This record gives sequence, C-alpha cells and structure tokens, in this order.
Amino acid sequence: MFPASCSNNCDFLVTYNVTSSNKVEFELSGQGDWVAVGFSDDQSMPDTEILMCVSNGSLSGHYYASERSTPTMTTPTPTAVTVIEQANDDGMMKCRISRDINPSPAIQNVRNLNEEVYLLGAIGSLSGVTIQQHSDVARQSSNSKITVTQAEDPTTTATAQGSFRIPDSCSSSDDCDFLVTYQRIGDTVEFELSGKAGWAGVGFSDDQNMADTDLLLCVSERSESGHYYAEDRTTPTMTTPTPSAVTILEHSNEGGVVKCRISRIIDPRISNFRDLSQPWFLLGAIGDFNGGIQQHSLRQPTASRITVTEAGSASSDDGILTNIIVHGTLMTLAWILFASVGLFTARYMRVVWEPKQLLGTKAWFTVGITSTKIIDK
Ligand code: HEM
Ligand code: HEM
Repeated sequence: MFPASCSNNCDFLVTYNVTSSNKVEFELSGQGDWVAVGFSDDQSMPDTEILMCVSNGSLSGHYYASERSTPTMTTPTPTAVTVIEQANDDGMMKCRISRDINPSPAIQNVRNLNEEVYLLGAIGSLSGVTIQQHSDVARQSSNSKITVTQAEDPTTTATAQGSFRIPDSCSSSDDCDFLVTYQRIGDTVEFELSGKAGWAGVGFSDDQNMADTDLLLCVSERSESGHYYAEDRTTPTMTTPTPSAVTILEHSNEGGVVKCRISRIIDPRISNFRDLSQPWFLLGAIGDFNGGIQQHSLRQPTASRITVTEAGSASSDDGILTNIIVHGTLMTLAWILFASVGLFTARYMRVVWEPKQLLGTKAWFTVGITSTKIIDK
C-alpha cells in the first residue's frame, strides 16, 4: 500500500508519455529553480544523460553528467530535444520536454529510450546562471530499470475506440453486416474493418456522398485490400502501389466475413488522403467480390461528421454512428520521488486519467495529480 503519496504536493514529479512513433514527452515539475530527469545504466550520477528545465529558460535543455559534479549543457540543444513549454509558479518549476526516442543517426550521450534505463531525478536552486547542487534528499534514482516507451498497458497513448456499425444495434463482426472501429495510436489511426460480404470499405468524405471519397477497403482477395479513391459513383480506383502511409496489419476471410486491421497515418499529406484529425463524414459499405469489387449491397454514411482521432468525443445522432466505447484511457506512467511529507523512497505510480483531462491546456500539471486514480505497483 502506498498511503503517503505525494499526490498533490510532490517535491519532484516526472511523467512520460509516448506521443508518436518516435517521440516521448516528459512532464517535469519540482520545488526549485531547476528540475531534471536523467537516464543512466546505473543508479548513480556519472555517465548520465539529463533533460533539465531551469527557471532561466536559456539553460533548459539537454545535459550530460560525466561525474558527480555540475553536468555539462549540450549546446546547441540537439534537435532531438525540444522544450515545449515551461513555467515557474511560486517556486514550482514545471515544464514539458519532448525527446526523440532513438535519434537516428545516433547522437553522442543521447540514449535509445526503447532500452531500459534507471531514471534519476533531482531538483535544485540557481545562483546567477549557475545551477547549484541538489541537496542529498533532493535527488533520487528509480530502484529498478524502466523502459519509458513501454507503459505496460497496450492502450498506451491511445484514445478511446470509436465505431460505426450497420445495423447500429449490432455488437461484433459476428452479427454486424458492416463494422469499423477506429482508435488513434500515436500518429496513426488503427481501423478494424469487417463485413459479411466479399469486401467492406470505410470512406472519409466532405459530404454524405460517395463522390470524392478517400477509402480504405478490406477485400477477400488480400492483394486488393488497401487504399482507394472514389472520384464519382462508380468503382473506386485502387491507389497502387499501396502508399507506406497505409499498412494492412491483419487480413482474414472466414465464414463469409472479411476482416482487416489497417493502420493509416493521420495526415500523410498525399493527394486523396484526408487529414484524419479533421471531422469527416464516414461512409461504410459492403459488397461482393467477383474478380473485382462489385457495387455495394449495403452503403451508409454517418449522420454527422466524425473526428476519428478523437473517438471519445464523437456523438451519435440517429443511431447510425453509435457505441462509442468510453472506457478507453490514456495511460501515463508517473514516476514520483520524495514527497514533502518526508517520504524519501522512490515509488512507481501509475496515473490513469481520461484523455480529455490530459488534453486541457496546462491541465496535465495539476490534473494528473489531483483527479486521478493512483495505483501502487
Ligand atoms: C550542479 C549540478 C550537480 C552537482 C554539483 C551534483 C553533484 C553531486 C554529488 C557531489 C553527489 C554525491 C553526493 C550526494 O549523494 O548527494 C551527487 C549525487 C547524485 N546526483 Fe548529482 N549533482 C548535480 C546535478 C544532478 C542532476 C541534474 C541529477 C539528475 C538528473 C543528479 C542526480 C544525482 C543522483 C541520483 C545522485 C545520487 C547517486 C550518486 O551518488 O551518484 N545530480 N551529485
Ligand atoms: C464497385 C464499387 C462501387 C460502385 C460501382 C458504386 C456505385 C454507386 C452508385 C451507382 C451509387 C448511387 C446508387 C445508390 O445510392 O446505391 C452509390 C452510392 C453510394 N456509395 Fe457507392 N459504389 C461503389 C463503392 C462504394 C464504396 C467503397 C463506398 C464507401 C465505403 C460507397 C459508398 C456509397 C454511399 C455512401 C452511397 C450513397 C450516397 C451517394 O449517392 O453518393 N460506394 N454508389
């Protein structure tokens, strides 16, 4: 049990969150003029890569400690590191730093964060432009190695899952004629598309009509599955070869049901590819396959526009778009150090909250701490 958590009064707190396939964001806060997180092969300060925020913003950035003494700032700050925002309120230093998970080509003293590391944390004061040493209670290392890109839950960085189904009361690919679910994973959206037919398609359109629609099709013939574009109300054209923005992760055709899991980059900036972070009408359709895709036996647009990257916030009008699964959560593993209450043991905490709270402007800072479920590990 962990009764004396520093849930709303931490001297030091770092949370991290994978924000895209190659970036992880750290949110640091601490009582001091500087707050830092380090990555190390052991629990000690020598040979540690450091991300630091300093009340004097020009000192915020990337550092390296070769020994137990003032770390050296990496100048200029490597492009792999970006201080997104920082603030100092009432002696509390807070900031958000993004870091490439594994910079390629490799940069000296910049680790591959797909590998496990000890996390080191520290806070301290500033004298002029010189950072002062932490006190011996204001520095800590994690007591085991951590892979920051792997929160244990598979829903990491994912939004809630949304869906569009025909008929709207159906529940799975077993009883739905058409079903698509979508979920944002980092900078992609994963679609699970199925239909009781030879093909099932989902389209993104500016209106409820078929013309000018960006399409993903799952076809009984795997090689026919992929990206299509419908210029008008005739057979859509397959985009060949399939652009790298579209990946068929799984394909099956069993018992008269075609099913595909397809990943699509949110905004690949290719013509006929809509930016999926914007609201579009979704078009769903199924049809036969007979050497080629045949006209649909069933087709339906959603009643309103849907932003598939914000699945949790979509709403249904007349029941065509339905069943937003709201229990999807955005996970962040928080690593909390030395509480003010005199608790100096490093603990791991998992902070769970609904995506909306996190997306609030600076809500991460207080929200993550006050209105969350905290589970001791
Ligand atoms: C002006 C900057 C710094 C100076 C002069 C400094 C110096 C020292 C010294 C002398 C020690 C050994 C005494 C002790 O245990 O407290 C130490 C330990 C430690 N420091 Fe620092 N440090 C600085 C910044 C940092 C930063 C930025 C971090 C982490 C992000 C950090 C993390 C640690 C940790 C975890 C220990 C305990 C483990 C060990 O002994 O290596 N330090 N530091
Ligand atoms: C062989 C492929 C296809 C052919 C020949 C075709 C042809 C047509 C035709 C002739 C219409 C007007 C008649 C009607 O309302 O049923 C229509 C409507 C429609 N189609 Fe398709 N279609 C094809 C594939 C698709 C796909 C892949 C989708 C979406 C995933 C789609 C979505 C729709 C929708 C929502 C309508 C009703 C709105 C409208 O009239 O534009 N169609 N299609």
